[in-house]
Amino acid sequence: MTSTPWLPGTPGTTSDGRLRTAFPADFLWGTATASYQIEGSADADGKGLSIWDTFSHEPGRIAGGDTGDIACDHYVRMPEDVALMADLGVSSYRFSVSWPRIQPTGTGAAEARGLDFYSRLVDQLLAAGIAPALTLYHWDLPQALEDQGGWLDRDTAYRFAGYAGLVAEHLGDRVHTWITINEAVVVSTFGYALGTHAPGKVLLFDSFPATHHVLLGHGLAVQAVRDVIPGARVGITHNLSPVHPESDSPQDARAAASLDAVQNGTYMDPCLLGRYPSLDILGIPVDRSCVLEGDLAIISTPLDVLGINYYNPTVVKAPGEGNPFPFEITAMPGYAQTAMGWSIVPDGLRDLLVGVKEQYGEALPPVMITENGAAFDDVLVEATGDGDVPHVDDPQRVDYLRSHIGAVGDAIDAGVDVRGYDVWSFLDNFEWAEGYAKRFGLVYCDYPTQRRIPKLSYSWFRAFLEGTS
Ligand code: FCB
Repeated sequence: MTSTPWLPGTPGTTSDGRLRTAFPADFLWGTATASYQIEGSADADGKGLSIWDTFSHEPGRIAGGDTGDIACDHYVRMPEDVALMADLGVSSYRFSVSWPRIQPTGTGAAEARGLDFYSRLVDQLLAAGIAPALTLYHWDLPQALEDQGGWLDRDTAYRFAGYAGLVAEHLGDRVHTWITINEAVVVSTFGYALGTHAPGKVLLFDSFPATHHVLLGHGLAVQAVRDVIPGARVGITHNLSPVHPESDSPQDARAAASLDAVQNGTYMDPCLLGRYPSLDILGIPVDRSCVLEGDLAIISTPLDVLGINYYNPTVVKAPGEGNPFPFEITAMPGYAQTAMGWSIVPDGLRDLLVGVKEQYGEALPPVMITENGAAFDDVLVEATGDGDVPHVDDPQRVDYLRSHIGAVGDAIDAGVDVRGYDVWSFLDNFEWAEGYAKRFGLVYCDYPTQRRIPKLSYSWFRAFLEGTS
């Protein structure tokens, strides 16, 4: 990646020189967060336990023994955070609602205090000229539902639709954009196949019922939201990764096709085409008897928008001995990496967008990039003297954002209908199994004091959003 350095005081442009004005005038520019990652106040105002409350308190699950009990204290500091977003100049903010704040046990009447928090958030965003984009499920399932089988149980899909309807009834007058599920692939793979995320189940390919029930919940929730708000813009967010074989060998090609089917096709095809892809290539039988007649028609209810989260492409090779999967993920040669060890490949985002348009054609709804961003080892430099202020210099994140936003511009030029872009994340936060060690924010969170310190990347994004030349 080559790019000219960006310095505060100069116009914010992408690394290929685009200003904001090079994008469609109504393009939504935003940042994204998720409830468990930022809110804290884990048992405030009648909130029930979520699977992440339980999981993060189990020894050995999270790096450093971190939990989301306090996180960024956003539940308390929300007005201050919205003010910082307004100062940044975004036109959209993607947040998620914590299901157990609304229904502490996953069923029954809504908890008014939980709803009131999101209602105040929405009001403050609108007052600041920021359009709310609401995600209904970003992984914090009520523990009470997990105790009854969680996403392995078909009932959870119907419970989810009930919850979606409740939230729509209370916020539908002010929220236009609704995302049902964030990254069904991660819910199922990390939560139920590999067990590195809550609820920590290790079922490998027997986790397919979790995949199917999350997708069924999505389809039912689309219908529930539309029943309440006929004009709502409703979609799902998938985490997509272009998959490349490490070599030309037939074994590596097969490994790549296998991963593409389980990571991308298993989620895109049912939502957009109304069918699951064949998994014969895996050479492992996957029991799909949980798919009942009519389910795929529900899952493929037409969408107004498809959210895509992009972080990096994946390179795979044939599996080594003892690997239960028909593929093995390897490093992408020749690219720098983020603190997560993820290769930085901006062109991968353009290729992904152009690729899904080619693959799904008319079935592809308008796209929003609902997450893109990077973790780096940011260091807070405290003020040392007069007029000096605490600061965080993150030129690598500036480069990352400049080049990836440029790649979105390239995809639009190539004819892909992209309507928005959200930086992950507004604020450093609880990065799931990695705890607080990995920082993705435009704003640094000093956890011991809860100070917010806008980073250099915040200044760049603000300059870009100002759109001056
Ligand atoms: C995505 C998640 C988000 C965050 C980023 C880094 O998979 O949706 O919550 O953890 O990764």
